[in-house]
Amino acid sequence: MNESRLTLDDRLPADYFSSTLRADVLRGLTTTPRTLPPKWFYDKRGSDLFEQITRLPEYYPTRAEQEILTRRAPEIATLTRAATLIELGSGSSRKTRLLLDALTAGGTLRRYAPLDVSASALAEAGRAICRDYPDLEVAATVADFETDLALSDEPGPRLLAFLGSTIGNFDADQRIAFYRTLSRALSGDDMLLLGADLVKDRDVLVRAYDDAAGVTAEFNKNVLHVLNRELGADFDPDAFDHVAVWNADFERVEMRLRARAAQTAKIRDLDLTVDFAPGEDLRTEISCKFRRETLTAELREGGFTLRHWWTDPATRFALLLAVPN
Ligand code: AVJ
Repeated sequence: MNESRLTLDDRLPADYFSSTLRADVLRGLTTTPRTLPPKWFYDKRGSDLFEQITRLPEYYPTRAEQEILTRRAPEIATLTRAATLIELGSGSSRKTRLLLDALTAGGTLRRYAPLDVSASALAEAGRAICRDYPDLEVAATVADFETDLALSDEPGPRLLAFLGSTIGNFDADQRIAFYRTLSRALSGDDMLLLGADLVKDRDVLVRAYDDAAGVTAEFNKNVLHVLNRELGADFDPDAFDHVAVWNADFERVEMRLRARAAQTAKIRDLDLTVDFAPGEDLRTEISCKFRRETLTAELREGGFTLRHWWTDPATRFALLLAVPN
């Protein structure tokens, strides 16, 4: 097979995982309430567990977004006429194929530029896409889009896809700052395609993050396995309960790990000892849910104008196209 159409640019600093993880864990575990950033869920096992989550009956966002993409991909191709599809946090690139198919059929697409922190996920997905789209150039970048937004700048027009409601992991201030970074990086005929999970019945939301089979609980506790392995910590994952709560003030689901009893964890590589009171929570993820009006206002504040808004028939999830001002 001709693989010269596939490039993989590794922009992560050599010490990225050790230095960023250390800084994140030190900051998160020494402040109140204790928190950990959700990006550390995704080692090999965490990524596999997330794939399982996307197939759970309770976890509707992936299917709802896929429904919208299936129905709207041809329209998106016509509206954007994109020559480059950039995808942030592409992971396995599964949903991307719906866009690649439509943009290929539309005859405009020349390059697919996925960006992810996982070199192995990018290499695997990149090879498969190269094989299945023989005329496509695949320019993959290993980078952390939160700190190093390395956007392929040609050929235009570019479509920047940020799918899966990953935007929900950011709080309002972070979202607006992120939109600002994106809108500055894009030019006049580029567009942003954003997937956002919507506010809905509280029980439906909580069940999506606390499934009956316990897959999400395993996913949540996996971050403690990551800390044990990467930082020589001694967390006992089974000494914590998985908890999903709806925070109505911020309209977000919060995943937490709740200490079942008083306990102490040592994080050897940080020379850090952390005491947990019985019932104390460690917040591991926020997953914000959106409304059209506030999302439009935030985008506007971040330099974008909303152009198209699509939902699935049950109005669970939204896919939107926005243009930089
Ligand atoms: C990948 C961040 C969108 O918040 O719904 C799934 C991750 N966490 N179940 C989400 C997740 C628990 C997911 N995102």
